[in-house]
Order: sequence, then structure tokens, then C-alpha cells
Amino acid sequence: MVELQRTTKSRGFYVRMKLLHNRHGRQEKSSCYRYFRWVVWVSLSLYFFSYYLISSSSKPTLLPKTTVSVSKTSFVSRALFESNTTLSQQLSRTKQIHLSELSRGSFDNLKVYIYDLPLRYNADWLANERCSNHLFAAEVAIHKALMDSDVRTLNPWEADFFFVPVYVSCNFSTVNGFPSLGHARPLLASAVQLISLEMPFWNRSGGSDHVFVASHDYGACFHAMEEVAIADGIPPFLKKSIILQTFGVSFRHPCQDVENVLIPPYVSPESIRSTLETAPENGKRDIWAFFRGKMEVHPKNISGRFYSKRVRTVIWEKYNRHRKFYLKRHRFVGYQSEIVRSVFCLCPLGWAPWSPRLVESVALGCVPIIIADGIRLPFSDAVRWPEISLTVAQRDVGSLDKILDHVASTNLSTIQRNLWDPANRRALLFNDQVQEGDATWQVLQELSKKLQRSYRRRATS
Ligand SMILES: *[C@@H]1O[C@H](CO)[C@@H](O)[C@H](O)[C@H]1NC(C)=O
Ligand SMILES: *[C@@H]1O[C@H](CO)[C@@H](O)[C@H](O)[C@H]1NC(C)=O
Ligand SMILES: *[C@@H]1O[C@H](CO)[C@@H](O)[C@H](O)[C@H]1NC(C)=O
Ligand SMILES: *[C@@H]1O[C@H](CO)[C@@H](O)[C@H](O)[C@H]1NC(C)=O
Ligand SMILES: *[C@@H]1O[C@H](CO)[C@@H](O)[C@H](O)[C@H]1NC(C)=O
Repeated sequence: MVELQRTTKSRGFYVRMKLLHNRHGRQEKSSCYRYFRWVVWVSLSLYFFSYYLISSSSKPTLLPKTTVSVSKTSFVSRALFESNTTLSQQLSRTKQIHLSELSRGSFDNLKVYIYDLPLRYNADWLANERCSNHLFAAEVAIHKALMDSDVRTLNPWEADFFFVPVYVSCNFSTVNGFPSLGHARPLLASAVQLISLEMPFWNRSGGSDHVFVASHDYGACFHAMEEVAIADGIPPFLKKSIILQTFGVSFRHPCQDVENVLIPPYVSPESIRSTLETAPENGKRDIWAFFRGKMEVHPKNISGRFYSKRVRTVIWEKYNRHRKFYLKRHRFVGYQSEIVRSVFCLCPLGWAPWSPRLVESVALGCVPIIIADGIRLPFSDAVRWPEISLTVAQRDVGSLDKILDHVASTNLSTIQRNLWDPANRRALLFNDQVQEGDATWQVLQELSKKLQRSYRRRATS
């Protein structure tokens, strides 16, 4: 029953967060619905629990976990009708049970405790709707998904890892709308101070089993400009922890000189779904090479650095009038509808090597053309990047047209076939609730490879 209690509490919190996030009436209705659904499955779970106890006495220890998993599926209706087999047979047959056993198995019984920090560290920021939707919103999405996941434990003593939910990317500047990161270090420092004063877990491990998200340009360095990021470095109090970050390169870099898991930038799965509803990924693609975004004609020399290392400037100069290229310099809200019409999508570096275009292109079936020397890409076990994308060296950007022509006449259809495997899209998108193979699932998978950092396991082994 511990398990059921656990779920009650997390749901409660989840609902509260959703309410905070969105104060419109519609939300209340859907929370009620969620609550109703929850009541229904708790009752059904209890029903099956007692049914099981009466009808079978084998492996009773499996049950509490299993009932919880049952809740989230359409399993219940199937079970009700298939009454000629035993319940345990039915349970083992349902997909969701299989999934949850699979994930429990592959996560190696990983348990994560989530600190319940004062709302000013996280949920308060959700008052601004952009906070949970912009490209840095993985910090919100991972928190949300973990709150409601099977790996969560409410008992910190049995946790392998401690998740510290601080949203640092939501202080949007009123001048230019970009997130201002100036408060990130003090906010994180104060969160760490709080948890290390109030609970013993930080001090006992020096934070090495604690997990943070750093989802902006230079990750754990908390600055958008590389030289400032490098000069500031990773805050000393985070250096022993595990950082989930979007920034990654294949060479040594001070901003990834910390235990880290590379995560994709956030792109709303709802926006992808609704774009694909109007235009399927294997539909007509009438744009050959697409890019929309900042392309400076005369990039400014900002303390010795030029935006995109001038790569985007070369792209603009060279292909702006090329009939096969569709290049636009201004924002357009409907630009996903352009990606889904395109064969190749250019993903050049900006200030940092990574860009949300990587996720948008893969999710919408446009072959990503990665132009960012040394970039390290997320979840390379799950997403076979070399088979679904093309990498062009920064210095070769002037021959893009020839390179793309060559691919179009040789292996384009192979790349597209690999790319259109839905597993790729799944792995790069964060859902509100963890789904097998999705981005949070991949994070858990990566964390389960770091269980040697679990204080609890070291202490008990
Ligand atoms: C369950 O139904 C199948 C046919 O659907 C039948 O072959 C089998 O004997 C039944 N089992 C029991 C235990 O009644
Ligand atoms: C948000 O950013 C501004 C500008 O950097 C800063 O003055 C302010 O203190 C920040 N707000 C919080 C709550 O940290
Ligand atoms: C953890 O260490 C800090 C610094 O040494 C100390 O101030 C704090 O009281 C300790 N926390 C606990 C819970 O003992
Ligand atoms: C850019 O500015 C730096 C000084 O900030 C200077 O040393 C460098 O020569 C400039 N580079 C170019 C190409 O203008
Ligand atoms: C497609 O061809 C290009 C260049 O000819 C090559 O670099 C790339 O690895 C190939 N990709 C696949 C998936 O075969």
C-alpha cells in the first residue's frame, strides 16, 4: 500500500503544479478529470488486488508494483472481459506491465528522491506560460515527468539519486524576451544551502548523488557567451554533482568538466503532434534545403567572437538566391509547417553548437544537416545520429549545395527511412508522464548507468 500512497501524493502535487501553471478555467476541468480517472483506477486496482489475493497465492510480492502500473493503461477494460485466464496471466500479457517490468529491469531498480523545495525555486516561475514551453524548458519537463514516475521515492533514505528542481531559465528579460541567467548561480546556491542545512543527504556525499538540469547554451557554466561561460566556469558547489545538460562537445571543455548526461533541447510534443496531423512526415516535401533563423550579414565582433562563427553569414551570402534553398531571417510562429515540407534542414551552430532545430528536424522527418564542429549529440545509444543525419564541417559550408546534391542522388532515401522510425522522435521529446523510450526515459536509462555514485548502494554493498 505504500505504493498507492506514494502515487496519491505525487498526483496531488502534480495537480497543484498544473493549477499554478495555468490559471484558466479549462485547466481546472482537466484536473478534475484527471482526479476522477485516478479515483477510478485506484478503485479498480484495489478490486484486482483483492481479487488476486482470493484467487491466487503465488508471487504476492509482485502485486503492489503491478497494480500501480495497471493504472495508467487501457488494460483494465481488457482484463474485465478476458475472464477465462488467471489474473496473473493477463497481467503478464499486457503491454504496459511488460514495459514497466522492462524499465524496472533496465533502470536497475533506480530510485530518485525529488526535493520539495519552496515554490520560489520552481513552480512560481510557471506563472509565465513560456516557462514550460521554450527551448530551455527541459528543466520543467523532467521535473514534471519524474514527479509522476515509478522511479520516484518519497523516502530519501532509499534513494539512489536526489533531484534538485530549480528552474533557472524562466527569468525572461522584459527588454528582449531572452532568459536572463544572472540569477541562476545565486538561486542554485541558495537551493543547495537549503537542502544541505535541512537534510543530511547533500553533506554525506558532497552532492555526488544529486542531479540538476542545466538546459541553456553552455550548460553548467550558466552563460550564453562561451568566453564568459569558460571564465565563470561551473559553480564550485555543483562540480561533484550530475548535470543534465544540452551542451556537449567531443573534446575537453570546462563547461562539461562534470559528470553529465546530454539531453535534447525542449520542443513541445503537442506542437509536433499537431503539425504531423496536418502534414505526415512521409508526405510531399517541396522545399529542398531549409533554414529559418538569425543570419547576420555583418556579424558583430563581440570580444573576438562572431555569432555562429560566421557560418550562418556564409550560408546567407552563398545560398540566399540559390533556387533550391529556402532561407528566411525572421521569426515565424508556423515554421514547423515549413520543416515538415523540407527535405534537408540546416542546423548550424549559434552561440553554442546545439540548437532546437536538431529535435524539430528529427521529429518532423526533415534530414538534419548538422554544421557544428565537435558537437556531441544526445542519447546516441537510442538515436543513431550518423544514420539519420548528415554532418558538414564548418569549413565546408561553402559547398553545401554540392554535398546535398550528392546525398540526394545516392543515399537520401536510406537516410529518410532510418529517420522516419518513430523511435527517434520518441527519444527526443519530453512527455508530461514518462513513456517508454521518451526523453525522460532515456535520462533514467543514463542515470542507471551511474549507480556506482549511489551512496545508498555503496553503503549497503
Ligand atoms: C480459455 O479459452 C480458450 C479459447 O478461447 C480455451 O481454449 C481454453 O481452454 C480456455 N481456458 C480455460 C481455463 O477455460
Ligand atoms: C531576474 O533577472 C533580473 C535581471 O538579471 C534580476 O535583476 C532579477 O533579480 C532576477 N529575478 C530573480 C527572482 O532572480
Ligand atoms: C552540512 O554542512 C554544512 C557546512 O559544513 C553545515 O553548515 C550544515 O549544518 C550541515 N548540514 C547538516 C544537516 O548537518
Ligand atoms: C575582434 O575583436 C578583437 C578584440 O576584441 C580583436 O583582437 C580581433 O582582431 C577582432 N577580430 C576581427 C576579425 O576583427
Ligand atoms: C550518405 O552519404 C554521405 C556522403 O556520401 C555519407 O557521408 C553518409 O555517411 C551516408 N549516410 C548513410 C546513412 O548512408
